[in-house]
Amino acid sequence: MGELTGRSTVLLAIVALVGCASSAGGQPESNGASEGVYSAEQAQRGRQAFTEVCRECHSSSEFRGRNFEFTWRRRTAWDLYRELRRTMPEDFPGGLAPQTYVDVIAYVLEINDYPSNGVELLPNEESLRRVPLGPGANKGG
Ligand code: HEC
Repeated sequence: MGELTGRSTVLLAIVALVGCASSAGGQPESNGASEGVYSAEQAQRGRQAFTEVCRECHSSSEFRGRNFEFTWRRRTAWDLYRELRRTMPEDFPGGLAPQTYVDVIAYVLEINDYPSNGVELLPNEESLRRVPLGPGANKGG
């Protein structure tokens, strides 16, 4: 009897722990960019924002391929987010909604062939830090 109670207590504790881990941050655990970290819909919104705001001064090819990989090779989406909010649009730094900045980042991930998984990238440090940029980060290695 005593033994049984002890065992179910341990089980309950495990269930509680697992429950906590998977609800942390309010979205499923991501193992990094190769698992998919944004949704296609979000990238679509980002593309629109990019066209409306950023294309005045930039072309999307600036944020794609080797050029982009080289600039951001040791950094994460969090660094890109901070940089964008601090400096862009150049004529109105920080002038966009936090959500719009992450939408634009989702678009940038898309044009760099990062997989999407239907879960939106959120404008918070914890989720953005989990997204490495740079060579190979989009291919799981
Ligand atoms: C009014 C013109 C203008 C607009 C609008 C603008 N930018 Fe820029 N952006 C610039 C200029 C000029 C630079 C170069 C600044 C520098 O290097 O000091 C730059 C630099 C950048 C960089 C750094 C490039 C690098 O490789 O380090 C990024 C990233 C960037 N812009 C993204 C964006 C995004 C995303 C948007 C839209 C939300 C945007 N910019 C809107 C003018 C603009």
